[in-house]
Amino acid sequence: METAPARPRQPVTPAGTATAIRTEGLRKVYRRGQDTLVALEGLDLTVAQGEFFGLLGTNGAGKSTTIGMLTTLVTPTAGRAWVSGHEVGADPVGVKSRIGVVPQANTLDRALTVLDNLAFRGRYFGMSAPAARRRALELLERLGLAGTAGAKAHQLSGGQARRVMIGRALMHVPEVLFLDEPTAGVDPRAREDLWQLIGDVHAAGQTVVLTTHHLDEAEALCRRLAVIDHGRLLACGTPESIKAAGGARSVITVRYDADSRAVEDAARRTPGGPHEIVVDGPTVQVRTTHPDGVLGHLVRAGGAAGLTVRDATTTPPSLRTAFLTLTGHDYPVSSTHLTLPTKRIVEVSQSAIT
Ligand SMILES: Nc1ncnc2c1ncn2[C@@H]1O[C@H](COP(=O)(O)OP(=O)(O)OP(=O)(O)O)[C@@H](O)[C@H]1O
Ligand SMILES: [Mg+2]
Repeated sequence: METAPARPRQPVTPAGTATAIRTEGLRKVYRRGQDTLVALEGLDLTVAQGEFFGLLGTNGAGKSTTIGMLTTLVTPTAGRAWVSGHEVGADPVGVKSRIGVVPQANTLDRALTVLDNLAFRGRYFGMSAPAARRRALELLERLGLAGTAGAKAHQLSGGQARRVMIGRALMHVPEVLFLDEPTAGVDPRAREDLWQLIGDVHAAGQTVVLTTHHLDEAEALCRRLAVIDHGRLLACGTPESIKAAGGARSVITVRYDADSRAVEDAARRTPGGPHEIVVDGPTVQVRTTHPDGVLGHLVRAGGAAGLTVRDATTTPPSLRTAFLTLTGHDYPVSSTHLTLPTKRIVEVSQSAIT
């Protein structure tokens, strides 16, 4: 095993609580022919029992790799991890018996009925056939899926399949439930139902660890978050503390009708500064903790330089602005579900904003 690089240890455990998950320098390097790819740099993390914890990051950040290592499916290159008191590398069977895993991909047995998908999992964990069937029916009822018990798994919609996978993972009453992108590919309505369901599971006392690339999902569900980018842990804490770590900055973006370099100097003299200014083609972005008056200043500066504002947005401090501060790059807004309190002003005239 290679040695993880030296890094500061982060005290991230809420005091006075029992530990569900702990990692020390957990690192994964994938080999691709001659090349290597560091998927996780070396993660130090502690999750308390009963917590609702989220791993937040964009595509390829290393979320599934982390979940894979914690659930014994991916072998770490370096570092150690404990789940429910059992070390993942030394006692994978002990870990597996205490966790439920809902992977990113649909892994239901398509040829089996929904009921059998659940019941077979119960049998795998040592339940008698009648006990497994009873538990499966009870869970399907609780998940609002009683009507699908006899359907073949391939007949389910994406949202139903996700619920069945959660039910399957709960069959043996795991101490920790891992959910890798539980709402990927699920429509907004089904997504809210899933949020409710996962919230109920957590309220019933389960430790829940979820990965997501949806900022709103992370904020709505998780009591604490680890923000991961390119395999590095950038921040860990409550959504509020992560926003604070990101400098609680607002982002004001103005797009002009022509190259914005003409207003660059004026933008740098925006009152209340110094602010971070990013000039990119027709767009000027001001990232600041003192947003008052910035937009008006940029509009007036554009007018003085003969430019017209085509589009302007002000994004108040949010996980998205914190991510921008922490990583230096914007959070891709690929999701139609992303709901940000962004004020959007299109085609404003200079006189409209003071
Ligand atoms: N088996 C593998 N072999 C080689 N590279 C891999 C393997 N699995 C993942 N990777 C790479 O490791 C990096 C992290 O991948 P990972 O799947 O952990 O990201 P993720 O945060 O779960 O992304 P997504 O949001 O797309 O699911 C990516 O660059 C990915 O291409
Ligand atoms: Mg993933």
